[in-house]
Amino acid sequence: MEINYQETSKDLLTRIDIHEKYGSANIDVWTNELLKPQARMKILDVGCGAGKLSFLFNEYTNGGADIMGGDFSEELLDKARAKNKQLGANIDFQILDFNKPFNFPDNTFDLCTSAFAIYYASDLDFTFGEAHRVLKPGGRLFVSGPLPENKQMFYEIIKEATNATIPPMPGSSRFKGDIFNTIDRLFAKTELHKFENHLTFPEVAPFIEYVRASLSEDRKLWTSMFNGHDEYEALIQSIQAVATRWFERDGKLVMTKVVGGILATK
Ligand SMILES: C[S@@+](CC[C@H](N)C(=O)[O-])C[C@H]1O[C@@H](n2cnc3c(N)ncnc32)[C@H](O)[C@@H]1O
Repeated sequence: MEINYQETSKDLLTRIDIHEKYGSANIDVWTNELLKPQARMKILDVGCGAGKLSFLFNEYTNGGADIMGGDFSEELLDKARAKNKQLGANIDFQILDFNKPFNFPDNTFDLCTSAFAIYYASDLDFTFGEAHRVLKPGGRLFVSGPLPENKQMFYEIIKEATNATIPPMPGSSRFKGDIFNTIDRLFAKTELHKFENHLTFPEVAPFIEYVRASLSEDRKLWTSMFNGHDEYEALIQSIQAVATRWFERDGKLVMTKVVGGILATK
C-alpha cells in the first residue's frame, strides 16, 4: 500500500501543544513509565519528527542514553537539531526513511521506538523486519498509535458537518490488526497497552485550531473532502457550525484520544 503522507512542522507542533494544554493525562509520563529508558542504552527513535520522544528519553536518562532520531523530513529534523543545540544535548538526528533499509548493523539498539509514525509504512513486514534486525536480542520495540476508538467526537462532528464518509485513517485502521499481528509474528513477545487522554475544550476556537492542524490542505489524507482553498474554508465553516451547536448543547467539547502502545521484545 502506498501512502502519501507528509506532516508539516507547524501542524504537528500545534497538535502537540493542544494535547498538552487541554488534555487530562500526560502521554510522556505513560511512555516513560512503560519503557523506563536507562542511561547507556542505545535508542533509535524512528519517525522522530521534531524529536519529542528523543528529548523525553534524553531528559529521563539525564543525557546518559545514546539516542538517535531518524525522520525523512528535513524540516522537522532541522527543528530537532536546533532544539538539541539549544539544550546542549547530544542526540544524533539523521535522515531515515522507514520504507528503506535502516542504515545500521544488526543487533545495534536496546530500544527502538516510533510514536505516531511507523504505521504509515508501505510494507509492514519490511519495516518491522528492519526494526527487529537492528535491535539486540532481548531489545524492545515500542510503537504508539491511535486505536480505532480514537477521537470519535472529532469524526462524528466532521460526519455531521459534511454527510461524507471519513477516509480510513492509516493509523487507527491498521494499528490493532495488521500492525499488531506483524510485530507479534516477528518478535518473541508482544503486549498491547492503552492510554486515554480526555481533551476538554472550554470554547470552540481551540477545537477548530485542532481541526485545521489535522485537515489542512497539504495533508493528502483528507483531500477527498475538499478541492482547493475555498472548499477547505467552507468545510471548516460547516465543522465550526456543528461544533458550536454541540458546545451550546453540552457546555463543553470533549475529545478523547485513545492511544495504543505495542511493546515487543526480540
Ligand atoms: C505524527 S508525526 C510524529 C512525530 C514524532 N514521533 C512525535 O511523536 O512528535 C509522524 C512523523 O512520521 C514521519 N514520517 C512519515 N513517513 C516517514 C518515512 N517514510 N520515513 C521516516 N519518517 C516518516 C513524518 O515526517 C513525521 O515526523
